[in-house]
Amino acid sequence: EIAGEVEALLARMTLKDKIGQMSQTMASAFSFGNTVIADSPQQMVEEGRVGSILGAFDMNKVYELQRIAVEKSPLGIPLFFNADVIHGYQTIFPVPLAWSCSWNMDSIRRAASISAKEAAASGITYNHGPMVDVTRDPRWGRVVEGAGEDPFLGSEIAKALVQGYQGDSLSDRNTIIACLKHFVAYGAVEAGRDYNTVDVSDQRLREVYLPPFKAGVEAGAGSVMNSFNTINGIPVAGNKDILNTLLREELGFNGMVISDYGSISELIMHGVAKDKKQAAQQAINATLDIEMVTSVYAEVLPQLIVEGLVQEAQLDEAVKRILTFKYKTGIMDDPYRYIRPEEAEQLYMSEEHLQASLDLAHQSIVLLKNDQTLPLSPENSTIALIGPFSNSKDLLGSWQFTNYAEQTVTIAKGIEDKLHHPEKLLIVQGCEVEQAIDGGVEQAVRAARQSDIVILSLGEHSEQSGEAASRSKLTLPDAQLELAREVMKTGKPVIVLLTNGRPLVLGDLHEQANAIVETWYLGAQAGHAIADVLFGDYNPSGKLTMSFPQNEGQIPVYYNHFSTGRPANARQGKYASKYLDTPNDPLYCFGFGLSYTSYEYSDLTLNTTKLRRDEELTASITLRNVGAMEGEEIVQMYIQDITGSVVRPVKELKGFKKVRLKPGESQIIEFEINEALLKFHNKNSDFVAEDGEFKLFIGPNSAELQSCDFELIV
Ligand code: IFM
Repeated sequence: EIAGEVEALLARMTLKDKIGQMSQTMASAFSFGNTVIADSPQQMVEEGRVGSILGAFDMNKVYELQRIAVEKSPLGIPLFFNADVIHGYQTIFPVPLAWSCSWNMDSIRRAASISAKEAAASGITYNHGPMVDVTRDPRWGRVVEGAGEDPFLGSEIAKALVQGYQGDSLSDRNTIIACLKHFVAYGAVEAGRDYNTVDVSDQRLREVYLPPFKAGVEAGAGSVMNSFNTINGIPVAGNKDILNTLLREELGFNGMVISDYGSISELIMHGVAKDKKQAAQQAINATLDIEMVTSVYAEVLPQLIVEGLVQEAQLDEAVKRILTFKYKTGIMDDPYRYIRPEEAEQLYMSEEHLQASLDLAHQSIVLLKNDQTLPLSPENSTIALIGPFSNSKDLLGSWQFTNYAEQTVTIAKGIEDKLHHPEKLLIVQGCEVEQAIDGGVEQAVRAARQSDIVILSLGEHSEQSGEAASRSKLTLPDAQLELAREVMKTGKPVIVLLTNGRPLVLGDLHEQANAIVETWYLGAQAGHAIADVLFGDYNPSGKLTMSFPQNEGQIPVYYNHFSTGRPANARQGKYASKYLDTPNDPLYCFGFGLSYTSYEYSDLTLNTTKLRRDEELTASITLRNVGAMEGEEIVQMYIQDITGSVVRPVKELKGFKKVRLKPGESQIIEFEINEALLKFHNKNSDFVAEDGEFKLFIGPNSAELQSCDFELIV
């Protein structure tokens, strides 16, 4: 039915109308680089020169622009309103790298669904998220927006996010179109520098960077955004092999491809197009449908068609995809269905949404070290809370545009609310995030001396991660290291809280602190979530999804690397694959995270050691809570294909389960293994499982594993 309506509408459209649907502008007149875009969005909408608007966070503006589109533009086609809804709309959730540490798909899906509900009631129809780039280089600031280093976990999360944003049907006005970004391999930018060159093998592209996109496409994502980088020397915005052959033909994607901001015109700076005409021609040939914010398509497509260099039929295909989604979201029949100010007000920061944010914040926290100092007792001790994040509201992280930032629960507030004697909490900033404060260290040391215990609240400010926020040094800023050093000298027990958007290099802190708690940017309820963990009202359960390097020289360091011909753990002496000055292993590996209780893994068994291709094998292990506190454990299952026609990783995550156990309780955890789980891209790029021997590992993280062997047979 929609197809017929789309065809009928398309038949009435002029070339200008079509290019209009393929063009996006910002909600306010703006500059891009050195170019001032003089036109007001109102005028562009009225003339039918745009089909979508980015960043309209003011609902009056949304309403005004939609009214102009419907009542005054030549064909009255309603607009899409696009926004980067990355970890919440008004109620802010933990940043995606943090929430990935929950390994809880239901909670992540719920966060996306709540974000969609708030955004949709505010007029937003089209999300610029989720980001599903696999990230192995913590220098890259955008690791904060993704799910970490593993393609299997990343795929599960991609699926959950698409389901959360889009719900069961885009016709439900509480949903928004999900856009998988950034296609593809943006996480592999050389040296972790944003927007830099990418050079990946076909094997790595397919095995590491592609799976989350495949999962997101299979989950029905309506859109994909191209990445800024090159693949095989061609920037993706103009790369037909990637956008058309790989994405559309191979993965079966039939939705809208939107350019990342300015990336069509950047084909010129990349040096693959000499002018806007060549840039537009490459992009349209690559089947890129919507130009985000810049106006290259509008400027040159008409001429390219006159010259016969582009066919109008190519534009028709793009416009059909765009209109199809305008029908699917219901705006063609009811253009104002997403603009519901009263409902939106009820939803923003509602009790239910705050509770969901708190729940995910709890699960996102990763306990990295604990010598029994934690949990604290709320009763009598004097606590010094020291550091630049003690009283800071910069706990939301990048990509959030909430009007409620002021209501962020600080760490100080969270702790005060717990204490029976809040007057015994001494709060000292000590230094700024990146700078010393006059007398700050002395004041902090005095407070530490007067206290029984010190909580050092350290980290990066939110602008130090995210887009265009790459760092070459991943230690804490010097001012904070100096503060920590002096406070540690007092000999008081020290708990370090980390607020950051990427794995950091912790150096001596790991040795010197009594406990280290990774809190990332936890969102609206950060202070409460952190205090719940500090005082044992929530038993930490998060597990890292990115390795923490020992130092920057190890980067990239990730658990699912290949075996080399000279692995350091199997070869004695000098000529092994290792460093002279640092171990190969990271400080904290993928999957690592502690709890206030302890778990014992025993009796790893397989129901058979021979797996036939048409059957399943069951691996089971007994998990027992041998500590004194109820808790949740994330049980991880990894597989190694010992010999393949191409080199296989030393292990790959292939399953996980999050299990709650009371003290003394045990449970048998089972994983099913079948042929599909063992497939990889062989040397002909065929996705197959090869006969032979496999190792299966189960355990609490990617390093401490029990193993057994099985064989795949015909
Ligand atoms: O969505 C983002 C993208 O991730 C980076 N460039 C800007 C876009 C704005 O929406």
